[in-house]
Amino acid sequence: NMDIVVKAEELRSLIDQSKSLGKTIGFVPTMGALHQGHISLVNKASQMADVIVVSVFVNPNQFNNADDLKNYPRTLDDDIKKLEGTACSILYHPTVEEVYPEKDERIFDFGTLDKVMEGEFRPGHFNGVAQVVSRFFDLVQPDKAFFGEKDFQQLAIIKRMTEMLNYNIEIVPCSIVRESDGLAMSSRNALLDEEHRKEAVLISKTLFESKKLIDTKNIKEVVNFVTEKINDSALLKVEYFNIVDGNTLQPVDDWSKSDYIVGCIAVFADKVRLIDNLIYKTF
Ligand code: PAJ
Repeated sequence: NMDIVVKAEELRSLIDQSKSLGKTIGFVPTMGALHQGHISLVNKASQMADVIVVSVFVNPNQFNNADDLKNYPRTLDDDIKKLEGTACSILYHPTVEEVYPEKDERIFDFGTLDKVMEGEFRPGHFNGVAQVVSRFFDLVQPDKAFFGEKDFQQLAIIKRMTEMLNYNIEIVPCSIVRESDGLAMSSRNALLDEEHRKEAVLISKTLFESKKLIDTKNIKEVVNFVTEKINDSALLKVEYFNIVDGNTLQPVDDWSKSDYIVGCIAVFADKVRLIDNLIYKTF
């Protein structure tokens, strides 16, 4: 029995009702075109909170490329069907005017966190993510919010934003969900033609393979191995592959220099940009 709401006032009154009954609120922000990765966040939320709010909103402020925004898959009817099979209590799908009645001019200072990787190659992207997520946090006032490790840097940015703006919200990381061949699930996978979809398996396959090399090869060698192996495919082009400290996201040059090390990659498969990551070392 899921409520589907477009208006902020309606959302507020449903949430106020639940809060007055002492219920905790779990929030899962998405841009729709839902897949099993999103659903895993909803399922995790349902284990940790009473009332689950899922937002479906393609946030124009986080797209630094007009074509990417235009081509982003929008499948609200399917999204509703998928959410009806979950513990989602409220689906919020506002319009752009509803979310931004006036232009959001806030500039967030994330220091070095958004100067690398996605932040470097998609200027303004994380500022737009922080804008929309903070607006949703203000509106939903959740106890917990759920984010996928698929977007590893986004998770770090959201944690930082939550601290900076003093939200009393627990940010809960959720593991990457993969297709049966290993490709990280993504709404953008639907944009791949058959040939590129098949070849895209090389991304996760190479990351997994590289994990076996960390005892015998140094970081530079592993970076070269991954980059070259994927670029050997005529259908794929690596935009970046960085091996970084999992907290600061700054490059690490030796396996011994951190106890939390992650490899983050962005790859073009034709015009479709795919990201993935793998944790090499954790405590
Ligand atoms: P979107 O790409 O729709 O992803 C919504 C949430 O689902 C994010 O937290 C993302 O990390 C998670 N997710 C996506 N694919 C996943 C996978 N294969 N396994 C696990 N989790 C996965 O990320 C966004 O939307 C937007 O930037 C948003 C946070 C909603 C702000 O607009």
